[in-house]
Amino acid sequence: MSVTEKPTLAIIIGSIRPDRFGPTPASWLAEEAQLHGSFDVDLIDLGDYALPMELAGDDPAATPPAGVLRLGERLAAADAFVLVTPVYNRSYSAALKTAIDWFYAEWALRPVSFVSYGGNTGGLTSIEHLRGIFPEFPSVTVKNFISLPDFWKLFDHDGTPVDREGLRERAAAVLDELAWWAPMLRDARASRPYPGLDFAAAPNGEDRTDSGEVQAADLTPAAASA
Ligand SMILES: Cc1cc2nc3c(=O)[nH]c(=O)nc-3n(C[C@H](O)[C@H](O)[C@H](O)COP(=O)(O)O)c2cc1C
Repeated sequence: MSVTEKPTLAIIIGSIRPDRFGPTPASWLAEEAQLHGSFDVDLIDLGDYALPMELAGDDPAATPPAGVLRLGERLAAADAFVLVTPVYNRSYSAALKTAIDWFYAEWALRPVSFVSYGGNTGGLTSIEHLRGIFPEFPSVTVKNFISLPDFWKLFDHDGTPVDREGLRERAAAVLDELAWWAPMLRDARASRPYPGLDFAAAPNGEDRTDSGEVQAADLTPAAASA
């Protein structure tokens, strides 16, 4: 990949239930990211992948489900992520947890931010719970995020923000920060081994040896989606 190529930002719709609100803020942010101009934007809908909650077993030769393979390719091609999360009982969706757990290398060494939406908390607890996960890969959760309290008041029925300029400022803070990290980490992934990074690129990081050591990691997108 050329260093001059724009990084890819994957915006992930984290709710999959019928009648969900998730696509509205995700589509809005995708538009803002296009206008921002720093990224190639990939809007990913977890509802398109039918990811099983039953994760992979221990057989490294087993073929992952087709949806896992297809989603893995898109995640591996991303240089930054925004997870768009609802709040269900004060936390993020099971769909997001399933998507996170199916992968490992695909999340690694990339910046991550969040959009949450809910009642008076704006889903902030979902973001805080998600932040606790990403050091595992490791990936970098950035400072800026967007939380949308009483989200039903913030967008017209056609998905247009009521206060476009106000929300744009908040989007810009997220996008500016991701645009700082994404090219730097993309270059670093391609050129520098990460200390203690001990997994091979496979769904669920299942390539650990019996001793807990792992095969050499190759974090290039092609390897990560293999
Ligand atoms: C199972 C469930 C639990 C919920 N728990 C909360 C909650 O703890 N706090 C909150 O503000 N809203 C809560 N809500 C309301 C959601 O914020 C609202 O339904 C929102 O539309 C969910 O996002 P979605 O439409 O994209 O699925 C809950 C909704 C569901 C379905």
